[in-house]
Amino acid sequence: MLNTKETYSNKYFAPGRINLIGEHIDYSGGHVFPCAITYGTYLWINKREDRQLHFFSENFEDLGVIVSHLDGLVNDPKDDWANYPKGVIKKFQEAGYEIPVGLDLYYMGNIPNGAGLSSSASIEVVTAWMLNTLFNFGLSMVECTLLSQKAENQFVGVNSGIMDQFASGLGQKDNAILLNTNTLEYKYIPVELDNHSIVICNTNKRRGLNESKYNDRRAQCEAALVLLQKEVNIQAICELSFEQLESLKHLIPDEEMYRRVKHAVTENERTLKASQVLQENNLAEFGRLMNQSHVSLRDDYEVTGIELDTMVESAWKQPGIIGARVTGAGFGGCAIAIVENDKIDDFIQNVGADYLEKIGYQADFYVASVGAGAHEIL
Ligand code: GLA
Repeated sequence: MLNTKETYSNKYFAPGRINLIGEHIDYSGGHVFPCAITYGTYLWINKREDRQLHFFSENFEDLGVIVSHLDGLVNDPKDDWANYPKGVIKKFQEAGYEIPVGLDLYYMGNIPNGAGLSSSASIEVVTAWMLNTLFNFGLSMVECTLLSQKAENQFVGVNSGIMDQFASGLGQKDNAILLNTNTLEYKYIPVELDNHSIVICNTNKRRGLNESKYNDRRAQCEAALVLLQKEVNIQAICELSFEQLESLKHLIPDEEMYRRVKHAVTENERTLKASQVLQENNLAEFGRLMNQSHVSLRDDYEVTGIELDTMVESAWKQPGIIGARVTGAGFGGCAIAIVENDKIDDFIQNVGADYLEKIGYQADFYVASVGAGAHEIL
């Protein structure tokens, strides 16, 4: 396998994402409102003459070239990150898309790993889009994102929803995607923030081992759905309004489980409202909804933690702030804040100092640009 990227025949990119609002409801049939960012994963490709797969990533240089074979792909813990693209290739094969020859795959990502900005979804989606275009399979981008999600759920083993892969595949420059995860209907809404920007605030607390908590939350929502279905004909908890949920409260005697559902149902309502007020240019109301979303994730869904709460609560106090909240799965990772451009330097200084004082290590800050979804770089 060649180490000079210039000698590769084709090059692809898929971005990471931030979610503006609509958190932890993409597996409960809710609406989410993510956008792709300009950071992501690049992939250089050469076809081989045999049936081997040679994976290399600049981000995991010490792991060297990871060799696998098109026939009989299985998850192997020692293949580490390469299990993501292996999973995608496997899911294409299972769906009947035969990969005719082996590949050299050279990856380079510029998303901080474990920050909750969907570096793994970007690896999956860049691989899926590469297979689709290189071998002319004729799949739509939505189909490629669904195969990528399948790889994550069934091959890697994280029971995530569709949001991350969808945003990575279908992102559009300067637009957020309002996605109904129940029907996969979606529309683009311009992210016009006048003289404000989105600041990504990385807690530098790695999510890592928290996949089990993620799967627990999901299981609680699924158990609640079964209880609710005794009296209402719904396929997903986010089909309910908060008012309807309150009238069905007797079906969920477990107080904690009820709070989980309350988060999901109110978050869905907030997301619809937020997408509306953004179109009306009502940034102040958008910010209030972001803040309420964080409180709901902190108190009812309990996926924030001391690092994210410290970051967001400090952000709320700063001059020029519109709103701030956790983005992505939580348990560490990143928050986002919408901040007036002139105040961003002070914001970073002040929130960074508060965070260091209380948590004991540094936070990182990046100003986000909303970028395009997966594509071949010609
Ligand atoms: C992770 C998952 C997504 C979504 C978010 C929380 O990023 O991969 O599917 O559930 O958490 O909103």
